[in-house]
Amino acid sequence: MARTLVLLKPDAVRRGLVGEILSRFEAKGLTIAAMEQRHVDGALADQHYAEHVERDFYPPLRAFVTSGPLVALVLEGDEAVEVVRALNGATDGRKAAPGTIRGDLSLSNRENLVHGSDSAESAEREIAIWFPQLAL
Ligand code: CMP
Repeated sequence: MARTLVLLKPDAVRRGLVGEILSRFEAKGLTIAAMEQRHVDGALADQHYAEHVERDFYPPLRAFVTSGPLVALVLEGDEAVEVVRALNGATDGRKAAPGTIRGDLSLSNRENLVHGSDSAESAEREIAIWFPQLAL
């Protein structure tokens, strides 16, 4: 069964959208294999976003993801990586299609509510960071 790492970012927690977003994943048929609310530090953010740390947008992204609690979870299901990315919608909430989480609920490229692993390899890397007890 495929697995993916999802973050409900601090904007989702602040705006009270955790239940709404989880409902969409559950209604689709995905299963929550692990879930935890965490307030992460910069070191964990750097590890998670290792491929972005040199990008111009990274310093404000780092400040944002460490700005308050987030909810990290592992979702399981058939083609979970691709299914979650489709449900999330395009990165920029302003451009994401209506019907997607970002398209319906976000108006920002940074504060886009959710993260989903971009490949099976990324999912295993990210699950090992957030939920080492579940790592293969
Ligand atoms: P995420 O799927 O978590 O992966 C990288 C994150 O960086 C992305 O969601 C956005 O939150 C953020 N991001 C990507 N591109 C930009 C950008 N051009 N400006 C600001 N934030 C961005």
